[in-house]
Amino acid sequence: MQEKIIESKVKIYTFDELEATDQQLLLKAKGQVINAYAPYSGFQVGAAIELENDEIFTGNNQENAAYPSGLCAERVAMFYANAQYPNVAVKTLAIAAYTNGEFLPNPITPCGSCRQVLLETESRYGKDIRILLYGTQEIYIIDNVKQLLPLCFEKNSLNK
Ligand code: THU
Repeated sequence: MQEKIIESKVKIYTFDELEATDQQLLLKAKGQVINAYAPYSGFQVGAAIELENDEIFTGNNQENAAYPSGLCAERVAMFYANAQYPNVAVKTLAIAAYTNGEFLPNPITPCGSCRQVLLETESRYGKDIRILLYGTQEIYIIDNVKQLLPLCFEKNSLNK
């Protein structure tokens, strides 16, 4: 029997410690929660994506009375960005969540389905996507999607 320990690195910052460009992208994600359509969960999520060409795309969660038909903020923003610029890699993704009248003190991390979608974009362009996760007390920075999805199934897994 062998054991393999798989580690993921998360860097933890205060907002003031961040570089201005990261602060700006997080502010854009925060600004998007107001446009979320989340009447069922009351949990509003905003996302902002910066591409390699410096274009910024934003999105938020879009819910539905048939619950599984809704979509998370990350996927709304990512599909939107990839649809507009299919040949441009994604540099950074920022996420913020708001509920009961306030932003959460600790960051939320993307759900499993979003991780799989983010991984596809990362491997599609062969370029790490930095992930910025907002909380009022702490910010997480994760260097790439692989950190969020160890033992993943991806494009190369289909090769015989
Ligand atoms: N949600 C997101 O948009 N992103 C996440 O990272 C986690 C969850 C949404 C889905 C649903 O509309 C609501 O938050 C509650 O799960």
